[in-house]
Amino acid sequence: MNLSIEKVKDSYGRCLDSEDFIGRFYEIFLEKDAEIKAKFVNTNFDGQKKLLRHAILSMILFAGDGLAGIVTLEKIRETHDPKHMDIRPWQYAFWKDSLLQTVEEKDPKFDEETKQAWSYVIDTGVKFITTY
Ligand code: HEM
Repeated sequence: MNLSIEKVKDSYGRCLDSEDFIGRFYEIFLEKDAEIKAKFVNTNFDGQKKLLRHAILSMILFAGDGLAGIVTLEKIRETHDPKHMDIRPWQYAFWKDSLLQTVEEKDPKFDEETKQAWSYVIDTGVKFITTY
């Protein structure tokens, strides 16, 4: 699986080199569903974009060795849990679709293998975040 993690790291590097990768992700994600959009009405996106940029890196590292990035994912698990923001499984599915769609759009070397590797990384992170 380490080979795939390297693939995702390289892909993420290319994505971050593109213009406003995270901003584009939020554009896609918020347009997917009105309920999701409503959760972000009071969000300061300058700050939010930096936090997500860091969180995605944590997710990639965590999928690599099950340890690096875990503290960040633990915090997200708490803020998103049923006692706090109460984010639902279907909303994570939209999140995953939106991220894959953004990577496809922004990574010039995107291919099926890259997609599978990202899919594995996201599934591993979401599973951790949604297991209480
Ligand atoms: C694995 C997927 C996700 C990751 C890595 C992620 C990451 C983050 C991070 C790092 C923050 C900022 C720190 C915090 O409040 O914990 C945040 C806030 C937030 N997330 Fe997520 N998130 C994910 C999924 C979702 C989903 C599916 C929703 C559904 C609507 C969502 C809604 C929000 C909201 C509403 C905030 C607060 C924004 C604000 O402060 O105004 N997140 N997320």
